[in-house]
Amino acid sequence: MTAEYKVDGAIAVITLNNPPVNGLGLSTRRGIVDGLNKALADAAVKAIVITGAGKAFSGGADITEFGKEDAYREPHLISVIQQLDLSTKPLIAAIHSVCMGGGLELALGCHYRIAAPGTAVALPEVKLGLLPGAGGTQRLPRALGVEPALNMIVSGETVMSEMLAMQPGQKLFNKMAASPETLMAEAKAFALEVAEVRPLPRVRDLPCKHPKGEAYFEFAATMVQGMSKNFPAPMRCVEAVKNATTKKFDDGMALEREAFMQLMMTPESRALRHLFTAERAASKIADVPSDTPVRDIKAVGVIGAGTMGGGIAMNFLNAGIPVTILETKAEALERGVATIKKNYEAQVKKGKLKEDKYAQRMALLSTTLAYEDLKNCDLIIEAVFEELGVKETVFKQLDAVAKAGAILASNTSTLDVDKIAAFTKRPQDVVGMHFFSPANVMKLLEVVRGKATAKDVLATVMKVGKKIKKTAVVSGVCDGFIGNRMIEQYSRQAGFLLDEGASPQQVDKAIEKFGFAMGPFRMGDLAGNDIGWAIRKRRYQETPDMKYSASADRLCELGRFGQKTGAGWYDYLPGKRDALVSDVVTQMIDEHRKSLGITPRKISDEEIVQRLVYALVNEGAHILEEGIAGKSGDIDMVYLTGYGFPLWRGGPMHYAGEVGLFNVVQAMGRFAQNPNDDAKFWQPAPLLARLAAEGKQFS
Ligand code: NAI
Repeated sequence: MTAEYKVDGAIAVITLNNPPVNGLGLSTRRGIVDGLNKALADAAVKAIVITGAGKAFSGGADITEFGKEDAYREPHLISVIQQLDLSTKPLIAAIHSVCMGGGLELALGCHYRIAAPGTAVALPEVKLGLLPGAGGTQRLPRALGVEPALNMIVSGETVMSEMLAMQPGQKLFNKMAASPETLMAEAKAFALEVAEVRPLPRVRDLPCKHPKGEAYFEFAATMVQGMSKNFPAPMRCVEAVKNATTKKFDDGMALEREAFMQLMMTPESRALRHLFTAERAASKIADVPSDTPVRDIKAVGVIGAGTMGGGIAMNFLNAGIPVTILETKAEALERGVATIKKNYEAQVKKGKLKEDKYAQRMALLSTTLAYEDLKNCDLIIEAVFEELGVKETVFKQLDAVAKAGAILASNTSTLDVDKIAAFTKRPQDVVGMHFFSPANVMKLLEVVRGKATAKDVLATVMKVGKKIKKTAVVSGVCDGFIGNRMIEQYSRQAGFLLDEGASPQQVDKAIEKFGFAMGPFRMGDLAGNDIGWAIRKRRYQETPDMKYSASADRLCELGRFGQKTGAGWYDYLPGKRDALVSDVVTQMIDEHRKSLGITPRKISDEEIVQRLVYALVNEGAHILEEGIAGKSGDIDMVYLTGYGFPLWRGGPMHYAGEVGLFNVVQAMGRFAQNPNDDAKFWQPAPLLARLAAEGKQFS
């Protein structure tokens, strides 16, 4: 069992011991009940202290148990807490470090709670599309007060124990320990003090009211509804906390359970739980063991101080790692540093960054025109022009000066990392680090694994990704890696939809209603339509049988590159970003249709969404099959963190599973019949066809 039992004089101590965070898995739950039974049976024991070993009181549910049978075996956490409720001897929770989810619910089931300062306390279930399901919504409002409890439950955010202890009238913590080190001694002394006190105080017996009653909950519901349109859980949290104020405790508990079970079945919760596991799994690479030794990254070099280089440098400065930026000209360096300063100053102005932190970060930045100055860097990231010749010059120079064991990374978005590695005599140290723009903001980092990339290089870069707070996902080498290779198919469909009768605004609106942050045409205008144009021109040479709508080329021939030229798929008023319908574009599309001999048809929003999303799914399936992505969850992470795919739909591959792969393949069969589409593309990837036939999902 992963809970230990010890007796110290008149005090029994039950210590949860299930590293890393004392998750409440089956054996821990059994251990608690077992300890409780022993303590109750021992006449010498007058009071019982429950605490956690190591780095937590308890982080809540044991995530390794998710989806497994043990999660459903008795004693459930609710049963454990019921047993605590029935205890005839006082129970004292000695809380430290981390007390979250089920861990907090367990503590609330005790008669008394003593917390160490610096304990992170939360009920984070809402982040998985759920609500606390073991009494959290009924007990926390009673112990802490309705309003602060509702805020914690609806947001899932962490609050430090000291803050909670300052809450007027709170009964969550009976005492704050002087320090984590003295916690146990203080808890035992407290236990002796209260050993004979009867009746035993139970949180469930505390009154629970809000002075404004109904009016407060109406206000709270309006606020929460506005902020959580696409997620049902936050509103259910409001309802549950309201029940704590209007219903008997047991009735409130039964309703909480019912809401929990219903939320478990929602697609939104399934998507968030998928995201939770996919995010953790992304850092695991099948053939790179988790104990692979990593290289020390104490100093970073960045080559190129343009759009990407500056943002990349900021990530490391933010993490306290010194950066040297190299450019070809002093003016370019000055421009780059000025942009970094401007970005930080904007954060200072908004109150998001303190002046002294800003100064500390800038002090970590140095600039140079000489490669020699990079010789002490442990990691050097190249972000120069996207031309193989330029990359060759850079990597040859790096090879000449970088110290042995330094990692040489390229931020290329389209070039072959293996070719870049071959410019050096150390291809094992070369890797792709594909950041997304703006690189200091976007969470996604595609880590491109070359043929020769060493395992420890990969492990190091994944760790660095975490340190700079990115979601790092490994991609094999292919044109566009995971994200851009898939988006190309999505963009092609957007083009065909225009040819057939949709307008840019209809396509954008349909996919934005589905939940994408921005439709393909507004996105094109923002990023610059010339980027896609350059890629297509290359494709026309390299893959002449690949079909594209020519409307995007026509647009670029008109010089309409997007917001930067004041006109793209939409018109823009000077200095404004509002996308206005353009007569010029409408006419251009119309003429293009005529040239193709297409009579426009009315296209439903449903068809638009299916063609765009299933194009991602089919290309994603090819990517999985080719081993470019290791797991379907990695593809989902790329889309959720880098491409604005709606969180509550869990990413394209998860979403396809929700629709049912059989249905996806059926729809693809219909699209293949459309003479204006690309029948060859719509042949389902063999993996997709097989899984659909077997009634399975991507894994
Ligand atoms: P940029 O044109 O804004 O900046 C490139 C910088 O590199 C310029 O400041 C230039 O002076 C400098 N440079 C050129 N040759 C150099 C050399 N030999 N030595 C040192 N510095 C040199 O370009 P951007 O947009 O920052 O792109 C850089 C790289 O990042 C490219 O490989 C691009 O494909 C990739 N990338 C760009 C993204 C974007 O959204 N802009 C997104 C992801 C990757």
